[in-house]
Amino acid sequence: MCGIVGCIGKNHGREYIISGLKTLDYRGYDSAGIAFSKNNSIEVYKDAGSVEHLDSLIPEKEDGKVIIGHTRWATHGKPNKTNSHPHFSYDQEFVIVHNGIVENIGELKEFLSKKGIKFVSDTDTEAIASLIAFEYKNEKDVLKAIRKSMEQIHGSYAIGLIHRGEDRLYVMKNASPLIIGLGDGFNLIASDASPMIEFTNKFIELEDKEYGFIDATDFSLFDMHGRAVSKELISKNADLIRHDLNGYEHFMLKEIEEIPSVISRLVNHYASDGEYKFDKELIKKIKGADHIIFLACGTSYHASLVGGRYFESLLGIPTTSYIASEWAFHPMLPGKKPFIIFISQSGETADLIHCLKIVKKSNHDTLIITNTNGSTLDRGCKYSLNVQAGVEVSVASTKAYSAQVALLLLLVGAVKEDPSIVKDIMGSLPIIDFIKKDKKQIIKAVATQIKDHKSLFYIGRGYDYFLSMEASLKLKEISYIHSEAIAGGELKHGPIALIEQGTPVIVFITDKVTAASMRSNIEEVKSRGANVFVISTKELSKNTDTIVIKDYPSYISSIIVSSVAFYLAYFTSLLKGYNVDKPRNLAKSVTVE
Ligand code: F6R
Repeated sequence: MCGIVGCIGKNHGREYIISGLKTLDYRGYDSAGIAFSKNNSIEVYKDAGSVEHLDSLIPEKEDGKVIIGHTRWATHGKPNKTNSHPHFSYDQEFVIVHNGIVENIGELKEFLSKKGIKFVSDTDTEAIASLIAFEYKNEKDVLKAIRKSMEQIHGSYAIGLIHRGEDRLYVMKNASPLIIGLGDGFNLIASDASPMIEFTNKFIELEDKEYGFIDATDFSLFDMHGRAVSKELISKNADLIRHDLNGYEHFMLKEIEEIPSVISRLVNHYASDGEYKFDKELIKKIKGADHIIFLACGTSYHASLVGGRYFESLLGIPTTSYIASEWAFHPMLPGKKPFIIFISQSGETADLIHCLKIVKKSNHDTLIITNTNGSTLDRGCKYSLNVQAGVEVSVASTKAYSAQVALLLLLVGAVKEDPSIVKDIMGSLPIIDFIKKDKKQIIKAVATQIKDHKSLFYIGRGYDYFLSMEASLKLKEISYIHSEAIAGGELKHGPIALIEQGTPVIVFITDKVTAASMRSNIEEVKSRGANVFVISTKELSKNTDTIVIKDYPSYISSIIVSSVAFYLAYFTSLLKGYNVDKPRNLAKSVTVE
């Protein structure tokens, strides 16, 4: 996902922009650029590659009064210098950075081409800049030109815009986040608060279809009727926003090890003093539903499978978990009174936003479980619950998954009015800590044994199957080993054909109900030559098991044993010498369908 940072009136503005772009790089990018504006001159530096590379292109003395920076994740056009942002308008009077996707780009380009306007890049962004410049020629007023352009642009955009010679940084937004940070004698903009939190804790969040500008001391925002809108100042919990390795070598390791503190913060937030603190109306709506529908992608989808099992087994409410990108092509809302739960760490996943648009055509209630307040899904759903995980920088999601699962369980506990669930969740903390203190070495030893294999399997049943799916995704995305999760009972229906001498098979046995069947599966794969690693709980363990964890109520398994899976993926990637936090081809937020 692209990232925007901008500033006006800031001392050491260039340093702020460079470090801001680095802070946003967790979102994933393939090129970067900066525009410096002062007096009547605008200098643009941009290229494919890293922010460090960009920095090396900029003369040491370069600085500006108004500066905008951008990290680009290619959508329209290849990742190269020409397509990198910032983009000039056709007349070189405006320069722009943009996050999002213009849906009617063909139409807009045709309109502008007929006016004789040419394009140098393949991007939709350049067309926005030129449209504003074109409208400005008629309106002679930048704000009016922006509004007229917004009337014509369909799609998502968060935009920072500079007009040559003006000491203002213009902004406009629709369906893509953009935040203003108010400083003392300077003002900032960014896609999220993380680059700004070191300099201010006064924020303004733009709503969809708002536009305006900041100067060094103030801001003005308007709606689509051109009326000034008054905005509330927002402050943020700096600890949840800051990107800081805190002595760790990688964000992924730091984030795995934050899981116990995330869970206790979550419990404190939603169930302090033994009492559930959820919105009563939300709980009533869930109680009244005859079907819970989950929509999610990737890791969040895996959390939804666990959550679905909680709703079914603890509340008796039927559920269906859908992969968002699949559901969108065949939208189904089972039940007469369905309640729809979206799960998304980022709150910006395009596949889910697409689903939300479809769901909104019906009148059903929606809840988003997210880690990102102010995100598109957070604002678009009727109810929203934050997983309290704090910013997750590593592309591979870890603490957000554990928090999603724990929050779903707390929600079920609140509907069930069962305080024992809170106790069980809190009971997971010392066990996760025990994994961290006592099991890391053995997990690393397993990583050493699997790292050179091309392919491996995770197997489990019930909760352990859902966990296998998440473990398998985590391993493949950062170690690039082909990994597949198989429900124990499904082995004999095909996948067992793939087991040969030495194939690693990692088995989870944490549930009494399925343990005996899993032991039979182990025999089946062993007899075909598999190299089996068993992760079990004490009461279900055998002497030969690889990793044995203290006992706990099996339904909280995904919160606990996921740590083992996360460490295993982490160590495997590390031993293979890969970039753990930024695996190839992946972005933290997937804002394209
Ligand atoms: C895997 C991972 C992805 C995300 C998926 C959905 O570690 O992080 O599979 O879970 O892209 O993202 P969100 O939860 O932001 O909607």
